Amino acid sequence: MSSFTISPATSQICSGKNGVFAPLSQSAVIKSTKGGGSSVGMKVKCMASSIPADRVPDMDKRNTMNLLLLGALALPGTAMLVPYATFFAPPGSGGGGGGTNAKDALGNDVIAEEWLKTHGPGDRTLTQGLKGDPTYLVVESDKTLATYGINAVCTHLGCVVPWNKAENKFMCPCHGSQYNNQGKVVRGPAPLSLALAHADIDDGKVVFVPWVETDFRTGENPWWS
Ligand code: FES
Repeated sequence: MSSFTISPATSQICSGKNGVFAPLSQSAVIKSTKGGGSSVGMKVKCMASSIPADRVPDMDKRNTMNLLLLGALALPGTAMLVPYATFFAPPGSGGGGGGTNAKDALGNDVIAEEWLKTHGPGDRTLTQGLKGDPTYLVVESDKTLATYGINAVCTHLGCVVPWNKAENKFMCPCHGSQYNNQGKVVRGPAPLSLALAHADIDDGKVVFVPWVETDFRTGENPWWS
């Protein structure tokens, strides 16, 4: 009669020729003892059931590849997330009320009260507006600042359109486009009216804020927003 002795060794599953399996974390050495008490060695096949992390071949390379893969996925993911998040953020920056302070020719903030001392009714003078675009500040006939500014960039090919006081129009010198005194196109080849911006007064300073409402000159949605 034969008996088996199982001695603890490593965390492996082992099997002998006669189909004996030693359980996990128990044995690697199996002895068969025959009737006479003599031991007979058996060939044992062992299969690792788990390998400690510090003994996995090329573990450093695997970790590096994992990091590279993670980075490759995270980069485009973040790039897509940023514009998605900014879509919901309120527009404008640079001014106290979320807009951009108007700057005069010297780069100073435009103070409404000071401006009106030197700019009379009907005046249209260039200032620096949103995104640095040249933008006209308009003085109304009642000597107040209009609540809108007019972007001076021609909608044809981008020349800065001067104000012609005698003609009471904006007249582009490049290809002859004309706009009325509110910047609405009245003669081509310019296809569209000049863009608008809100001209608010915040703490005495003129602040331009993006115009996203209906264009009051045409009754249409603003093409520039
Ligand atoms: S750029 Fe103004 S008409 Fe062409």
